[in-house]
Amino acid sequence: MEQKPTITVVGSINMDLVTITSQVPKVGETLFGQHFQMNPGGKGANQAVAAARLGAHVQLIGCVGQDRFGTDLVEHLQKEGVNVANVEPVTEITATATIIVSHGDNSIIVVPGANNYVTAAFVESKREVIANSDLLIVQLETPLEGVMKAVEIAKENGVTVILNPAPIQDLPSELIRNIDYVTPNEHEQMLLKQNREEDELYGKLIVTKGSQGVSLTEEGKELIIPAYKIDVVDTTGAGDSFNGGLAVGLTKGLSLREACEYGNAVAALSTTKLGAQTGMPTAEEVEAFINSKE
Ligand code: RIB
Repeated sequence: MEQKPTITVVGSINMDLVTITSQVPKVGETLFGQHFQMNPGGKGANQAVAAARLGAHVQLIGCVGQDRFGTDLVEHLQKEGVNVANVEPVTEITATATIIVSHGDNSIIVVPGANNYVTAAFVESKREVIANSDLLIVQLETPLEGVMKAVEIAKENGVTVILNPAPIQDLPSELIRNIDYVTPNEHEQMLLKQNREEDELYGKLIVTKGSQGVSLTEEGKELIIPAYKIDVVDTTGAGDSFNGGLAVGLTKGLSLREACEYGNAVAALSTTKLGAQTGMPTAEEVEAFINSKE
């Protein structure tokens, strides 16, 4: 039997509270929206689900509160085939993300709650899980000290690392050094490059540019991998879908360029439904989609 690659995600698990509105309220204004929905979310959980739907063996390291949202989110992850043995209940509320979707674009406020318990000590207690993985994905919705610890463990054990630097913050050079691929969007890329030597990020940057696709540097030249054209309903989680697809592509042995193309297809399909995870495709759906475009 074919051995599935093991992808470990260290990251956030949020309940997304989504309001659809034709207009975003200004300060002091009250408006009627069109629709409200609660969806499983969080960049960590989204990336884990994206990779699991594509057929990888995925384990998530994270924390939830001992509340209804926490229970529902863990049950959901289990149904999606994500290994939740390392998702632990803590004495804080489960993280929420209040998301306003207007004309396909979104704005998000995250209250981290239980995500703040993904500390260096917590991650250290999961050392073996990370060390025995093929690839690690981290983002920045959990404390930086925990992210740094996860990356350190991965590097010590030769595990490939993808950092999705969202939401962006100042990052120490030590962290960047230990990372194989960094996947900012254009805004995050700008901040990431500030006060940093150009060569620190050399060959690691994969910039997601929405409908433009992604850009990367190959043999010193910038290369654009164009996005697939599709009717967009909701872009929430498109970046997470790309990262999940990229991770699966890399662990399957695709070249970086091919893995980015694969990630682009996963991201495109993810935008066709409302909710971060709702539209995330299976491997078969991605294959059919790519074939239909050839
Ligand atoms: O990347 C999308 C995610 O960002 C949402 O699911 C929300 O939880 C926020 O963390």
